[in-house]
Amino acid sequence: MNPAPGTDELADFALALIGSRFSVSPKRLHAPGPSAEQLRRIVEAAGTAPDHRELRPWRLLRIAAAQRDALADLFEAALLERDPAAGEAERAEARVKAHRAPELLLAVAKLQPPHDDVVEHERYVTLGAALMALLLTAHAMGFAGMLTSGRALRSGAFARGLGLADDERPVCFVSLGTASEVRRHPRTAADQWLADWAPRRAAP
Ligand SMILES: Cc1cc2nc3c(=O)[nH]c(=O)nc-3n(C[C@H](O)[C@H](O)[C@H](O)COP(=O)(O)O)c2cc1C
Repeated sequence: MNPAPGTDELADFALALIGSRFSVSPKRLHAPGPSAEQLRRIVEAAGTAPDHRELRPWRLLRIAAAQRDALADLFEAALLERDPAAGEAERAEARVKAHRAPELLLAVAKLQPPHDDVVEHERYVTLGAALMALLLTAHAMGFAGMLTSGRALRSGAFARGLGLADDERPVCFVSLGTASEVRRHPRTAADQWLADWAPRRAAP
């Protein structure tokens, strides 16, 4: 199947793909996650995102199974940084986040080097577009996923523990796996997003 642009077939396919994707919490993701080859294709799809001046202003850090305990240490340290009195249960809850999804990626925005034509927020637009392409491709392959952030990502110590440079920002985690349950919710009609622009009238 290779429907051409401009055909109903391709439009219906695209809308069916996009319309049937829903985020699935890492708590409801289980094995299998994507294989190495599937992950490569998913990340290549992400790389098609619009990118002003081709700055490639993002990267993905894969947290392999062998590194999940080290990530859990960072989550726990971030919790203790903001709440030194956190108890055993809260610490365990912070740690478990590192272990849920079969595939766990960290989406990182790269803010340097500066470019005269590209303001900073354009870099986040590129990353957002990349993440949507990633989620849709994973969905097309039968996987579910979700973007999550959380307070740990606002901790400087957490970012340094991840090995990020000063000019990089940890934006969100990307969890991928097989859904045990998909919770669908209504989507928003186009008129909520779209309006015709008109120039302001000068005051009389
Ligand atoms: C950068 C980013 C971070 C997010 N972080 C969280 C989060 O920590 N917790 C959460 O419940 N949803 C978070 N969300 C929202 C979910 O990823 C998801 O978009 C939302 O639940 C709507 O689900 P849908 O994709 O099925 O429409 C985040 C979204 C983005 C774009």
